[in-house]
Amino acid sequence: MDTTIRETKKKSWMRWLWGNMGGHRVLYVTAIFMTIVYNIMQLIVPYFSGRIVTLFEESASSGIPLSDNLNEFILNLSLMVGLTLVRITIVYFTCMAYEYVSQHALYKIRNFLFDKIEHQDMNFYNEYRTGDLMTRLTGDLDAVRHNVAWVIKSVVDSFSLFLATAIYFFIMDPLLAICVLSITPLLFLVILRFKKASAEKHRILRDKLSGLNTDVQENISGNRVVKAFAREQYEKEKFNRSNTSYAEANMDTQRTWLRYFPAIETFANLLPVILLLAGGMFIINGRLTIGEYVSFSMLIWAIANPMRMLGNIMNEFQRFAAASKKVMEIYNSKAGIVSKENAIRHPDRFKGLIEFDHVSFGYEGGAVPVLRDITMKVEPGQTVAVIGETGCGKTSLIHMIPRFYDPEQGEVRIDGINVRDYELTDLRHNIGLATQDVLLYSDTIEGNIAYGDSSLSSDEVVKYAKYSAAQEFIDKMPEGYDTIVGERGVGLSGGQKQRISLARALAIKPSVLILDDTTSAVDMETEKHIRDSLNELDFDYTKIIIAQRISTTKYCDKIFVMGDGRIIEEGTHKELCAKGGYYANLVALQMGTNLADVEKFGKEAI
Ligand code: GTP
Ligand code: MG
Repeated sequence: MDTTIRETKKKSWMRWLWGNMGGHRVLYVTAIFMTIVYNIMQLIVPYFSGRIVTLFEESASSGIPLSDNLNEFILNLSLMVGLTLVRITIVYFTCMAYEYVSQHALYKIRNFLFDKIEHQDMNFYNEYRTGDLMTRLTGDLDAVRHNVAWVIKSVVDSFSLFLATAIYFFIMDPLLAICVLSITPLLFLVILRFKKASAEKHRILRDKLSGLNTDVQENISGNRVVKAFAREQYEKEKFNRSNTSYAEANMDTQRTWLRYFPAIETFANLLPVILLLAGGMFIINGRLTIGEYVSFSMLIWAIANPMRMLGNIMNEFQRFAAASKKVMEIYNSKAGIVSKENAIRHPDRFKGLIEFDHVSFGYEGGAVPVLRDITMKVEPGQTVAVIGETGCGKTSLIHMIPRFYDPEQGEVRIDGINVRDYELTDLRHNIGLATQDVLLYSDTIEGNIAYGDSSLSSDEVVKYAKYSAAQEFIDKMPEGYDTIVGERGVGLSGGQKQRISLARALAIKPSVLILDDTTSAVDMETEKHIRDSLNELDFDYTKIIIAQRISTTKYCDKIFVMGDGRIIEEGTHKELCAKGGYYANLVALQMGTNLADVEKFGKEAI
């Protein structure tokens, strides 16, 4: 049973690599074939040396001087040198071929992995940490390349050299061959045990490397927090722990290798001793000529070296096995949220009718309920606000619209069609989202605004920057729209980042615009400017605004108040004031009046 599983796995990595060698398979098979050829050719020197010694022997015993046999001597010598040169040329081109194929396979896998990661859903990003994914795309992938270029080549190298030599030995003298090779089964046994012992060590080693990279990545991107809390020492110690742990895992892996290495080395070193003893006896009793013995002894390395190499190869192979498992996990992963088959294409704009129909949702497969039976309707062109205490599920709610997550129950519809039925890219192209956690790319401000539509002209970029009240501060920057903002928008204030993020969302001219707390960090005056300009946009769209400020919500066509994953109140600003519930309390609190006055205002205004 165990064997079957192992074999299936073995087949699958081979098939996986083979699949990624597309276009270069003939070259790779040729390289393997040529590896066998040049290893067989390794027997040339000892063969011809043996023949030359025999020529000397014959001339000494028969009394005929060697000069009479000069032609044969020169022929043997020339063949020996000529064929060695041919062998070296083959080795050169074979190595180049392995490198070429492995680099192409690596390139192909890396592109595929990147594409795979790009199309993953939020659950995937919740599960895998950035440092871990980076390790899989770099270090782990390089171990895979090393396997194609070096490990497989070395396996073919060792086995072909070993087999060719063993066959040659048997042809020359079967009894001596058996004596010399009698030791090999023991060596295979040791190597098998080593394979078993090292597999787990390499798995741990890859995990530790990923942990180390994750620590570094989080530390670098979180450097401001580290500095703000003056936690450099703490971070240093934390890193030191990961580093030590990685170093120890490395040492442990090496120790495992060193435990088996002496046994392998001893077996390899025993070979010349056996040859000396058995060969010596065979020469004494006339079974073997000196020439044959020379051939044997010149070739004993061709048996000993593959034996030595096998341990090393196994070590490298286990490294590959652990790394390839990690790479293939991502390679074979499937995004949970994808376009369904025969999905509805909708490259045109939506009218903008958004409906939530008894939507329930929870993270981690529903284990943590976040949205409970939400039903709401937003008419085309309306501006609605969603308000509610922190953590009540507002962001989770709006993430259902571009399908960052799918509801467990109920459905979300745009223009009467379930969002699951639309082609995913068409759906998302139609939605402009300014997320709560603003992320800008290391690019110019213009590049960041035009991120969703590279064909945007500079004039249009300026237009959307104006709508988002970003124009003024951008103009003040030394290089204006060409100013490069750092990773995550370093160099900009929170409110500035929010305004660029708003301009970016507007620039795709969405038919549904979602603003998740997008004006929380801008002052009231700027907020008013943004509100006014959003009413002037030259395209029709439905707008959903998550906000905490009454100054934002009160101008909306409708307000949904959320509490603990439910819609607890809905209506216009006036209606909700008159209701005297959560919203009215919030108004009283933010306006500095009492609830009774708010209720009174609401009732009078309706
Ligand atoms: P604020 O933005 O703070 O106003 O909160 P919100 O109303 O937008 O809440 P959100 O929808 O972000 O979160 C609702 C609940 O879901 C909270 O209890 C969060 O802890 C939880 N939550 C949010 N995102 C995740 C996630 O990615 N994984 C898990 N497991 N829980 C999450
Ligand atoms: Mg939120």
